[in-house]
Amino acid sequence: MTVPPAIEARSLFKVFGRNPREAVKRLRAGATRADVADAGSAAVIDASFTVQPGEIFVIMGLSGSGKSTVLRMLNGLLPPTAGDVFVQGQSVTDASAKALRGIRQRSISMVFQHFALLPHLTVLDNAAYALEIQGVGRDERRARAREILDKVGLGDRADAMPDELSGGMRQRVGLARALTSGTDILLMDEAFSALDPLIRREMQEQLIELQRELGRTIVFITHDLNEAMFLGDRIAVMRDGRIVQNGTPEEILTDPANDYVAQFVQDVDRARVLTAGSVMAPPVATTPVSAGVRGALRVMRDLQVGSVSVIENRRFLGSVTDRAVIRAVKDGRTDLRSLVRNGRPAVHVDDPLTDVVERAVESPVPVAVIDDAGRLVGTIPRVTLLAALGDVPPVTRENPIIDVPATVPASVMTETLEVVDQTGAVPAGRAAAPAEVDAHEHSAAEGALR
Ligand SMILES: Nc1ncnc2c1ncn2[C@@H]1O[C@H](COP(=O)(O)OP(=O)(O)O)[C@@H](O)[C@H]1O
Ligand SMILES: [Mg+2]
Repeated sequence: MTVPPAIEARSLFKVFGRNPREAVKRLRAGATRADVADAGSAAVIDASFTVQPGEIFVIMGLSGSGKSTVLRMLNGLLPPTAGDVFVQGQSVTDASAKALRGIRQRSISMVFQHFALLPHLTVLDNAAYALEIQGVGRDERRARAREILDKVGLGDRADAMPDELSGGMRQRVGLARALTSGTDILLMDEAFSALDPLIRREMQEQLIELQRELGRTIVFITHDLNEAMFLGDRIAVMRDGRIVQNGTPEEILTDPANDYVAQFVQDVDRARVLTAGSVMAPPVATTPVSAGVRGALRVMRDLQVGSVSVIENRRFLGSVTDRAVIRAVKDGRTDLRSLVRNGRPAVHVDDPLTDVVERAVESPVPVAVIDDAGRLVGTIPRVTLLAALGDVPPVTRENPIIDVPATVPASVMTETLEVVDQTGAVPAGRAAAPAEVDAHEHSAAEGALR
């Protein structure tokens, strides 16, 4: 048995005003909202999309673009002028009043905008309130509400009254209440827009966590692209009644369908949206640990890079820098394993760039990206990271280029260290005598840890 989509909107139109049918005819022929103003107010024009079970589908657009009108058509609150809505395979457009009530009770519900709590009920009874309305018995609804309160970190405040909680806590209770309601699909219209930024951020994170655990389908409306990008598995961007792009956050960010979307995208906090995997470069500078110090040096020289990733049994062991390798060659050491910088775990391919940035700040070598099995799947040099965050093409290489013979005289050692100076890893003008090298390595390592 195949599961039907949670929601399917097929060529939805909603025109308010004197002559909606006439307006739809002209809109189908390509007229804009402004073109048909004489016939009516075209709130939604030819909107088609599918929402899969378990997805967070975000509808994003400026005020007046038609978002709320789309949402009200999804649960049958507004009849479309043309087009169809199906909820879990069942037509909402053709449903009788009775069937519609059934759909709203079981399948699709609207979340109140401000999560207002009832002041005379305890936190627990507030969280259970949606279930009470649905006729769920007292013990069962309290048990389910308790479970959700635990999930939002308020399990120990179940008996408190709303006015004993902070604003952020009250919002979380409201969210818990919304999610305890039994319906599979939740419609949320600008649910977080009135919150102050810190609480809003916290609520976004909570929503994602709860949604993952509870597996609800959510249609979330916002005019804030950052919020859309953070929450959405997919985002439909609306403008003047039409959906102008429908895609994943990454698709919208990296390949905006038109100038309108591109303008929105300019302001987005890219670090929260892009993952390590989306910006990494293939790992070219790698060497098996068995190739030893000389093997590592050869790779760095051939590829003209300042560090190399060391691999053992296909797994990423860590990175070694040119300085460490050159030093080892000079000292006659051959074992590569002892040079690997440890204590600097790689990032996972699905980690957001915010995590990568933290790592990159700490580390002079490109950040390694690994998969679930610990295999090296890519690296992110600092310039690539900056380019991804700023959406500008990279113009420089991150690592100092070395070109040293396999036997390293002291003079070359000095030169190499001076190149390293330019990265800011070693205080300028202090890398002269080999006797001082130890101190420099030390301070460089400390600097990198800061
Ligand atoms: N009941 C209505 N009567 C007339 N025009 C409406 C009505 N509801 C919405 N509109 C118009 O439809 C457009 C889209 O509104 P809406 O869906 O509320 O946009 P959004 O939620 O994106 O801000 C707006 O221009 C609005 O003025
Ligand atoms: Mg609205």
